[in-house]
Amino acid sequence: MQTAHTLDVLRKLVASLREDGSGERATIGLVPTMGALHEGHLTLVRRARERCDHVVASIFVNPTQFGEGEDLDAYPRQLEEDAAMLQREGCSLLWAPTVEAMYPQGFVTNISVSKVSEGYCGADRPGHFDGVATVVCKLFNQVQPDMAFFGEKDFQQLAVIRAMARDLDLTLPHVHQIIGVPTVREADGLAMSSRNRYLSSEHRAAAATLPRAMKEAIARIEDGQEVPPTLAALEDELLSAGFDSVDYAALADASSLAPIDTLSGAAARLLVAARIGGTRLIDNMAAG
Ligand code: PAF
Repeated sequence: MQTAHTLDVLRKLVASLREDGSGERATIGLVPTMGALHEGHLTLVRRARERCDHVVASIFVNPTQFGEGEDLDAYPRQLEEDAAMLQREGCSLLWAPTVEAMYPQGFVTNISVSKVSEGYCGADRPGHFDGVATVVCKLFNQVQPDMAFFGEKDFQQLAVIRAMARDLDLTLPHVHQIIGVPTVREADGLAMSSRNRYLSSEHRAAAATLPRAMKEAIARIEDGQEVPPTLAALEDELLSAGFDSVDYAALADASSLAPIDTLSGAAARLLVAARIGGTRLIDNMAAG
């Protein structure tokens, strides 16, 4: 696996991956990450390897998607360990730009996606999705992959990226497909996240209530129980289990992310964000 830290080097290495000697243009799958890799990320790499000739993974802790008082400085950085994991998974190229390479002096552009970025994490983390959309647009232009792979765990993020790519015509000539990969979970159901490592053992044990209570809430809603009291009961259960607060617990239309109060046959998603021991956990599951 080769590594690029500057755009010039990245472009040369991507060009050489494209021409691998077979006479055909080799395909590239991009796996964008912020590092601190876990099985969830490695699953994205595996899915990309199944679909593409080469996988390019990016590791960049993007400062513009962290708000004031969030964990930008504390966010785990372990480039060597991550690079070794990517190499073992058969990744061809690691793109690990510096902040200066990504945002050179004088950088003034911001991409803001409306509608799907509003509410939920967008309401709790102002500016977060602008930071995500802008950096992902840059990553798409830098690597020009045929496909890009993102975890469904960040369900709203995936919707924002799809909208951005569609609206800015990034889907052609490159990024033909943006693939959402189902959330990878720990044995007790907790969604894998780089932030899980912030949890004390007590909070980690309590955190497993989140997926369990979500599954139960979905079963009740599918059984015909009313949505608002079911969501209120879900919030109460999280607070009783030791969560400090619930940022949101909502049933939403899976494509528009508009909140819904009943299952209508269209795909729906239960979306939750809750805080425990200073760590904000998010999760989502299909309903209906
Ligand atoms: O999901 C993440 O790790 C980040 O938000 C992403 C997509 C790599 C953009 O910085």
